[in-house]
Amino acid sequence: MEQKLKVGILGATGMVGQRFISLLENHPWFEVTTLAASPRSAGKTYEEAVGGRWKMDTPMPEAVKKIVVMNVNEVEKVASNVDFVFSAVDMSKDEIKAIEEEYAKTETPVVSNNSAHRWTPDVPMVVPEINPQHFDVIESQKKRLGTKKGFVAVKPNCSIQSYAPVLTAWKEFEPYEVVATTYQAISGAGKTFKDWPEMVENIIPYIGGEEEKSEMEPLRLWGEVKDGVIVPAQSPVITCQCIRVPVLNGHTAAVFVKFKKKPTKEQLIEKLVNFKGLPQELDLPSAPKQFIQYMEEDNRPQVKLDVNYENGMGVSVGRLREDKVYDWKFVGLSHNTVRGAAGGAVLCAETMTAKGYITKK
Ligand SMILES: NC(=O)c1ccc[n+]([C@@H]2O[C@H](COP(=O)([O-])OP(=O)(O)OC[C@H]3O[C@@H](n4cnc5c(N)ncnc54)[C@H](OP(=O)(O)O)[C@@H]3O)[C@@H](O)[C@H]2O)c1
Repeated sequence: MEQKLKVGILGATGMVGQRFISLLENHPWFEVTTLAASPRSAGKTYEEAVGGRWKMDTPMPEAVKKIVVMNVNEVEKVASNVDFVFSAVDMSKDEIKAIEEEYAKTETPVVSNNSAHRWTPDVPMVVPEINPQHFDVIESQKKRLGTKKGFVAVKPNCSIQSYAPVLTAWKEFEPYEVVATTYQAISGAGKTFKDWPEMVENIIPYIGGEEEKSEMEPLRLWGEVKDGVIVPAQSPVITCQCIRVPVLNGHTAAVFVKFKKKPTKEQLIEKLVNFKGLPQELDLPSAPKQFIQYMEEDNRPQVKLDVNYENGMGVSVGRLREDKVYDWKFVGLSHNTVRGAAGGAVLCAETMTAKGYITKK
């Protein structure tokens, strides 16, 4: 790319915002020029605004330390500095819906981590290896918003990334019933053990809203584009329990599946390791070379050993075995703040840049 696209991060001081900043350091196409957060942080340098809240393992990049944080609510001002924005603000659903559309109406594409627009019929919700064709609905969304370049696109919830890609790879065997239990890391709530000491040696069997998202969002990924909107798929039926566990990063899922066409273990593994999508074909900067790895050892995947597979952009699968009640069962693992949040959004932005939806203003 001749000239990098200028990027703003809404919610830059939060956990996902910090992950965006870390992932975009030295990005070949995108340059972070603008940071915005709540009025509490506005006017401070990024370093001051974050203070002791920096949660990444790597140090805060020098290039952002002295950037003066702007107020997310000053839409025109923030938008005038950038070609597009990533959104990771923590506000009410209605406020997020409204503010993301306000940004779009300033002709600024918004690539969002938030759930607010995930069911807006003309907003694409994409995992680029699974449903990049859903970006086609951007054209009808732009008509609704009255924009030429501005739109909102979102990525799905972090919990589904450990099993939705796997079920997609197995689509031709027609999975029709799925039971999943997710074991979710505390960073998914924007927390570390320092901010959430109650989670040490603990399990909490409830994550608000998560089970509905885990059951329904995969169906939208597998849906069709029809008359300018996404029509969700009807099958497979997924039922889910989501459990918070004392892990910093990495969502694990234990999954049972029934298939209409009965596959062998060899066929299932072959489909996983050969599963590729548009990001691999286009060789996008953040694309994992091998999206899904299959691990033969009985004690893998493990969070500590495998969460950073393919820089946190890949999915690790193991323990695939026949089941007495269902046909097959397996365990999947993915990085919730990389593939499940900021990294997934960066890959969406790269795909939309390659497809010409995001350009210089
Ligand atoms: N953590 C994950 O793995 C994950 C995964 C997928 C999606 N998400 C979603 O991404 C969003 C951010 O999550 P997070 O974990 O990064 O949260 P977080 O650490 O609490 O960060 C929230 C960010 O939003 C800003 N903010 C809070 N209240 C605001 C207001 N009234 N007006 C404007 N900005 C405001 C904060 O700014 P200040 O610092 O100035 O307060 C901060 O930058 C949430 O909607 C979350 O559901 C998170």
